[in-house]
Amino acid sequence: MNFHIMTLFPDMIKAGLSDSIIGRACDQGIILVEASNIRDFAFNKHSKVDDYTYGGGAGMLMQAEPVYLCYKNITENIAKRRGVPDGKVSPRVVYMTPQGRLFDQKMAAEFSECEDLIILCGHYEGIDERVIDEIVTDQVSVGDYVLTGGEIPAMIVVDAVSRLVPGVLSNSDSPEYESFTDGLLEYPQYTRPEVWHDRTVPAILLSGDHAKVDKWRHEMSLERTKQRRPDLYERYISRK
Ligand code: ADE
Repeated sequence: MNFHIMTLFPDMIKAGLSDSIIGRACDQGIILVEASNIRDFAFNKHSKVDDYTYGGGAGMLMQAEPVYLCYKNITENIAKRRGVPDGKVSPRVVYMTPQGRLFDQKMAAEFSECEDLIILCGHYEGIDERVIDEIVTDQVSVGDYVLTGGEIPAMIVVDAVSRLVPGVLSNSDSPEYESFTDGLLEYPQYTRPEVWHDRTVPAILLSGDHAKVDKWRHEMSLERTKQRRPDLYERYISRK
């Protein structure tokens, strides 16, 4: 799967995604994370990509044209790679914004089906609405708080989506059992030693009885979800 990030801070993306599991998946060619600098598509000699807002008000806005030219460059390269002769491809374009739909595991699963995903990171006070209307297919928020830019949200999306791409996690079936996949939070887990700071591992986990262990884990998941995320618990119960 290929991620194409449109940003004013490509180094942030490279620094944030070059280690650990995502870095390894990139090295192995399972995923590609390409950060394009919108400033490279500025059409004035000062490489300026922002301007004052019509109607007044504080702050600067990213201009439509550099964003559009950056997008065109990415889609033309995708078309070349796919062998589409007229250069016309229309991959999903996700704009990271606190005004978007809240990102969740279901959306991550949906995005993981894409061959190419373009992610647009905003900065300053935002982006000229016209280019959003023209190129963006999905507006996505990572939570009800405002960050200084879309780069960290974009990295959250790349991380959550990548780990669902086959081959990225070494244990390929592990996503099925973890928090959110079945709508419940994960049960508590323990490793050696058996006693640590006078805290013992629950005896059932040492019993060797797999059916009992599974039952206990499911009950713990239910209990935890009920206490910590009553919203998820209600949804889970109502679907049963
Ligand atoms: N940009 C700034 N804040 C954001 C948020 N909460 N989600 C997505 N993009 C953002």
